[in-house]
Amino acid sequence: MSEYFNYRDDTLHAEQVSLADIAQCFGTPCYVYSRAALTDAYQQFADALKGREHLICYAVKANPNLAILNLFARLGAGFDIVSGGELQRVLAAGGAADKVVFSGVGKRDDEMRLALSAGIRCFNVESEPELERLNEVAGSMGKVAPISLRVNPDVDAKTHPYISTGLKQNKFGVAYKEAIDLYRKAAAMAHLRVTGIDCHIGSQLTEVSPFMAAAEKVLALVDQLNAEGIQLEHIDLGGGLGIRYDDETPPAIAEYAQALLQALHGRAESLIVEPGRVLVGNAGILLTRIEYLKHGEEKNFAIVDAAMNDLMRPALYDAFHAIRSVKKNAVSMQVYEVVGPICETGDFIAHARGMAVAQGDVLAVMSAGAYGMSMSSNYNTRPRAAEVMVDGERTHLVREREMTEQLYALEKIID
Ligand code: LLP
Repeated sequence: MSEYFNYRDDTLHAEQVSLADIAQCFGTPCYVYSRAALTDAYQQFADALKGREHLICYAVKANPNLAILNLFARLGAGFDIVSGGELQRVLAAGGAADKVVFSGVGKRDDEMRLALSAGIRCFNVESEPELERLNEVAGSMGKVAPISLRVNPDVDAKTHPYISTGLKQNKFGVAYKEAIDLYRKAAAMAHLRVTGIDCHIGSQLTEVSPFMAAAEKVLALVDQLNAEGIQLEHIDLGGGLGIRYDDETPPAIAEYAQALLQALHGRAESLIVEPGRVLVGNAGILLTRIEYLKHGEEKNFAIVDAAMNDLMRPALYDAFHAIRSVKKNAVSMQVYEVVGPICETGDFIAHARGMAVAQGDVLAVMSAGAYGMSMSSNYNTRPRAAEVMVDGERTHLVREREMTEQLYALEKIID
């Protein structure tokens, strides 16, 4: 777990700030991020890649809060985006367009235009029709689009099937066998400039070997392209490094980075990586209050005020998140299902957890910084949680809790 969330005198703190005070002041559910944890994770990456030309493109989808984007931008990060909306966020947060790479299988014309006007670093193109569309759109604007092809290396990432992306049967990237032909085609298009190659095989990987297998296949293509006179400026090896939620033992950032550097040894191209989860996952928690303890016939339920709309990962992937009491309580330990108020059996945060808790206690759902708030919704007309960033002894509200009226403000009643 993170060294930035620790107990002091029986109360869990984020850096120097009591999480009980945050719950009191900002209410629950509430996401809390540690600035030091975010900075530390980014810095570990940057230090490990020092000495080689590189760009760390934070995958915005993991957590797109402006304060987080701004923090990473100030540390020198670039950004991996998957929509025009994410580009607008990056720019609003002070990120540099020329450090942005644009991934995704379904880029629309308007998103392409937005990115071309802003002057992004590279489009990671995922299919032949997208190549043609981008060439047309760039041509109509009198621009040349910098591109790399996202290659599908057909490597098993050994992770949850929903977040595995590098297998032949997945919708992502261009087929390995077709990549060279497509590069030839792209190189001949008037409004495209081939600048790189890209792959991303999945998320929450806990071993280095699938990354290495993918890198090897990508580098074999780079060699073939060189032989044909197509020189690349960068090699983008994607994101995907896992974090510890429970008892996983993912490689450390330094170990992973070292392996990438070794694979690229002796090559002139610069390295791009697209980490998301590993930069933010363990830098955030979700605070939630126990509304009711309900003792059923077969199970005990801790009914909390956060639900699957706030943190979707347990319902969607059966994902594990550790849960801690914000204030240690002297009551006896019991086994609980930790569930939200939403009317679905899939609405759970955790199964069968031993907890010494009482009604009204505040819990911290750990490792919730990545794909927590970013995947939240308004299901059941639930306003989305507040977001707070702790910086040493200071606390900043970085997103206000939504107000219910905002949720239907765009709707209309008809005659
Ligand atoms: N680059 C591309 C093209 C991606 O699709 C992703 C994530 C990343 C980078 C960042 O991957 P990371 O370093 O965060 O593993 N909602 C899921 C995770 C979905 C990941 C989607 N793509 C979850 O909650 O586990």
